[in-house]
Amino acid sequence: MADPYQYPYPSPELAAAYPFRELEFERLSPDEMRRRAERFHIQMEQRRSVRMFSPDPVPRDFIEHAIMTASTAPSGAHKQPWRFVVVGDPALKSAIRLAAEEEERINYEENRMNEEWQQALAPLGTDWHKEYLEVVPWIVVLFEERYEVRPDGEKRKNYYVKESTGIAAGMFIAALHNMGLATLPHTPSPMAFLTKTLQRPDNERPFVLFPVGYPMPGTRVPDLVRKPLEDVALFFD
Ligand SMILES: Cc1cc2nc3c(=O)[nH]c(=O)nc-3n(C[C@H](O)[C@H](O)[C@H](O)COP(=O)(O)O)c2cc1C
Repeated sequence: MADPYQYPYPSPELAAAYPFRELEFERLSPDEMRRRAERFHIQMEQRRSVRMFSPDPVPRDFIEHAIMTASTAPSGAHKQPWRFVVVGDPALKSAIRLAAEEEERINYEENRMNEEWQQALAPLGTDWHKEYLEVVPWIVVLFEERYEVRPDGEKRKNYYVKESTGIAAGMFIAALHNMGLATLPHTPSPMAFLTKTLQRPDNERPFVLFPVGYPMPGTRVPDLVRKPLEDVALFFD
């Protein structure tokens, strides 16, 4: 096959200036690729957000593994601008529940969420009660790192912080689901109370909170239908 590249990456100058290594990549047969694609899709179709968690304990290394998987996410300029703060301490979980419920009570009961938003949420039937935050064995709060603070105190810019953290969040959810755990992306906004409760520095902002555990036996979820391919994709073949 003729080399299609006139300007290969990395250029000899770049490779001389910075370390590079050869990509480890196994090219699979089309049959195997299709099999894996179908299996992964079926597996991910079964993922659901859970709002009734069991108090059954979950070993800490399961959470560590999911975070390491999430942390393989691509990120702008490879800044990895995320921090996963893991809470198993009952007193801290109670404090988070209390503060989250106070914010959510204002959202739901004092109409901080407008009418359109409340209508969109109606089929989910969510309200300000967040008992699961105390019941669940772990709460993982994902913070976005708005800028980097080096050990000497120097501040450095991070790039595409929200996009990068969002991708890490998705990979965290997929990793949990893959190992047989359930979660819920939860945003009891405004979430500034999490910065205070978890004593995070100024450069970190709460992104999303994940209760993580097993579903209560018999847990029910909204009977949602996901959009078909033609509603979420457009091909220019
Ligand atoms: C960014 C984000 C924020 C969310 N915030 C909440 C929340 O605060 N409370 C809640 O009960 N569900 C929340 N959800 C969960 C959604 O309601 C749920 O993902 C959606 O209804 C689809 O259901 P599924 O996750 O089971 O597919 C949130 C989801 C996302 C992605």
